[in-house]
Amino acid sequence: MKVKSIALTNFRNYSFSETSFDDGLNIVVGKNAQGKTNLLEAIYFCAIGKSLRAVREKELINWDKPVAKISLEVEKKFGKTRIDITLNRVGKKIVAINRLPIRKIGELMGELNAVFFSPDELKLVKESPEDRRRFMDISISQTSKQYFYLLGRYSKVLANRNKLLKQALSPETIKDTIGLWDEQLSSIGAKLIMYRVAFLKNILPFARLSHEYLTEGTEELNLEYAGITGEDEAEIKTKLLKQLENSLEKDMRLQFTSVGPHRDDIKVWVNGIDIKTYGSQGQQRTVALSLKLAELEIIERQTGEKPILILDDVLSELDEKRKKRLLAFCKKTQTFLSCTDFNYDVPHKTIVVDRGSIV
Ligand SMILES: Nc1ncnc2c1ncn2[C@@H]1O[C@H](COP(=O)(O)OP(=O)(O)OP(=O)(O)O)[C@@H](O)[C@H]1O
Ligand SMILES: [Mg+2]
Repeated sequence: MKVKSIALTNFRNYSFSETSFDDGLNIVVGKNAQGKTNLLEAIYFCAIGKSLRAVREKELINWDKPVAKISLEVEKKFGKTRIDITLNRVGKKIVAINRLPIRKIGELMGELNAVFFSPDELKLVKESPEDRRRFMDISISQTSKQYFYLLGRYSKVLANRNKLLKQALSPETIKDTIGLWDEQLSSIGAKLIMYRVAFLKNILPFARLSHEYLTEGTEELNLEYAGITGEDEAEIKTKLLKQLENSLEKDMRLQFTSVGPHRDDIKVWVNGIDIKTYGSQGQQRTVALSLKLAELEIIERQTGEKPILILDDVLSELDEKRKKRLLAFCKKTQTFLSCTDFNYDVPHKTIVVDRGSIV
C-alpha cells in the first residue's frame, strides 16, 4: 500500500499543511524542531490509531487550538481509502474510514500498515521487556484484529484481578472470585501466547536475513519467546492456570499479577551471545533494525500488501555502510525518512518542513 497524500490541521506545530507523496522514497528534511517527527507521527497515527510519543492525546492538538485533524489517503491494490482522525481537548477521538466513523479503534487495524523506526526503537533490544512485548503486540495487531481484541480483553480481566488482589484480606476470602479471573486470564493468555510464538517463528527467518544483510554476513541472529509455551493452546492454558494459582500468595503481597503473558519477553542472541546484556550499541541498534525490516516482510506476506516504512532520524545512528544498505532496502517499499540533510544519490521526493509548514 501507498500513502498518496496527507493534510494536517492544528496537529502539533502545524496549523494547516498538505502534501502528496511519491510511491518510493520520501525524504522529510528540515532543521531541528521544525515538525519532521510530527509529520511522521501523524502518518503512523493513521496506521495504529494512537501516538507512540504522546502520553495524552491532547498533546497532539496545537497549543492554541481546540481541535486537531489528520486526513490521509491510502492506495491499496483494490482501491483507495481515506482515513480522517479528529481529536479534541476533552479527549474525544473520532476516526472515520471513507468518511464513515468507526465504533472501535480495532476497525482501523489493517487499513494502513506501517513499520516505524526511530532512535527510540533502540530500546527494543536494550531496555525493558515491555518494549519487546509492545513490538509483538503492535505487529500482530496490524494483521489480526482478533489479537487486538484479545489483548483488550486480557488487560480488562487483568485489571479486575489486580483490583481484587489489592482489596483482599486473605487468600481464602477471594478464592472463588479469583478462580473466575484466573480461568479467563489463562484462557485468553494462552491464545495470546499462541499468536506471539507463531509471530516469532514467522519473523525469525526474515530477521536473520535482514541482519545478515546489514552486517554483511558477520552476525547470526536468534530469537525465542520467553514465557510459558507448550504443544498447543490447551497445554499452555493449563500451565498458565497452574502458574496463576501458585503465585496467588506472592501476588497478594505484591498487589499485582506477577505472572502471565503481560510479563513475557523475547530472548535475543547474536552469534550465541545474549545481546541485551552483552551487545554493543551498534549491534543492538542493528538487531532492532533487522527486526523492523523483518516485520515489514511478514506483514506483506500475511496481508498481500507491502506496508509503508517510516524511519525517523535513523541515518545519523548508522555507519556509512549500513546507511547505504538501508537505503538500498528502502527502494523496495514506500518509505518516509526524516533527516536534517540528505546527500545520497538515490531517487527520492524531498519534502521540506519549516516552522510547522510543508513548503
Ligand atoms: N501540541 C503542540 N502544539 C504546538 N507545537 C507543538 C506541539 N507539540 C509539539 N510541538 C512543537 O513542534 C516542534 C517540532 O517538533 P518535531 O519533533 O516534529 O521536530 P523535528 O523537526 O523532528 O526536529 P528534530 O530534528 O530535532 O527531531 C517542537 O518544537 C515542539 O515544541
Ligand atoms: Mg525529530
